[in-house]
Amino acid sequence: MRILAIETSCDETAIALLDISGPLDKPNIKVLVNTLLSQIELHQKYGGVYPNLAKREHQKNLPILLAQTLEEANENSDNPNIDYIAVTNGPGLEPALWTGITFATDLGKKWDKPVVPVNHMAGHIFSTLYDTSGSFLNLPALALLVSGGHTELVVIKDFGNYKIIGETLDDAVGEAFDKVARMLGLPYPGGPQISRLAETARGKREALFRFPRPMIHSKDLNFSFSGLKTAVLYKLKLDNKNDDEYKEDIARAFEDAAVEVLIDKTRRAILELGDETKTLIVAGGVSANFHLSQELEKLVSEFPNINLRLPSRSLTTDNAIMIGIASFVKVMKKPETFKDKTQIKAQGNLSISSSGQ
Ligand code: KG4
Ligand code: ZN
Repeated sequence: MRILAIETSCDETAIALLDISGPLDKPNIKVLVNTLLSQIELHQKYGGVYPNLAKREHQKNLPILLAQTLEEANENSDNPNIDYIAVTNGPGLEPALWTGITFATDLGKKWDKPVVPVNHMAGHIFSTLYDTSGSFLNLPALALLVSGGHTELVVIKDFGNYKIIGETLDDAVGEAFDKVARMLGLPYPGGPQISRLAETARGKREALFRFPRPMIHSKDLNFSFSGLKTAVLYKLKLDNKNDDEYKEDIARAFEDAAVEVLIDKTRRAILELGDETKTLIVAGGVSANFHLSQELEKLVSEFPNINLRLPSRSLTTDNAIMIGIASFVKVMKKPETFKDKTQIKAQGNLSISSSGQ
């Protein structure tokens, strides 16, 4: 199946051309072309992503990336050899999502190809199918999704069957990383910056501070990160310090708290699900976090029957490859659905459990 995949849900414009075949639990994924233009520098000035600015950039970037993709693949721009066009239709920033959808739908008409709407979080989940070790993705799986907009625990009983069993009640964990970084005067996106400072502190000395672990003792599987962020803010105001070592200690204490909550709730979910979970998938931008991945290794060592699956480093943050892979899963599950050209709508709050993936 040859797929042209398009991602514009946030601040990355991305187009990829993929050729995917084989079984869902171990597909053979060939990335023919992968293109991406990041808007990070543009949004850095504002400390976050502005939807209308993102929209304008996507509109500018999409034709450039398409031309580059078709040229690299030696494909005719009037009639390329593809079977499907895949596009993210949510969740994300609606003005940004619409640019991708309009672009994809116009191409679908021009080339007479079906357009498959893809849930961005399903994209993150199935980014882990791109696996060079050649192992099977065994289901049922539990997914911990950690990105700039989401913190969710999702049970994947089967391909196409997703249920959210826990989620954040306020800020997403990536958002908390970004906000704490901003308080420390670090550039957007804050996750990699915090991670770097925290690792420096760990390499030098014992932990100096301890922040609260919000909701760690609640009986449910939900998260809250807004209180942790506020605790950091109060601490900074109280201490009124600005030297490098102080910032490293704050970053470390924040990361320790955020990661401990993620690990604890994931353990609780595994225990609640009983013996059935075969794979723990962790995906989304924050899955690139070094401390989190180390703690995850320790967590799965408590459960010998569970395999840990993280995306390869280049697929942790937003990209079009993961959208193409998720569309493959969707089309394989419901091949008939995409024959008729139904209208695709951007859905900013699209949920993984209701998206009919
Ligand atoms: O999945 P993603 O690229 O975009 C969304 O769908 O939101 O995730 C972006 C988020 C940002 O909040 C960024 O700060 C965070 O992922 N992130 C990290 C790291 N790398 C990216 N957070 C913690 N540690 C990292 N190494
Ligand atoms: Zn994402």
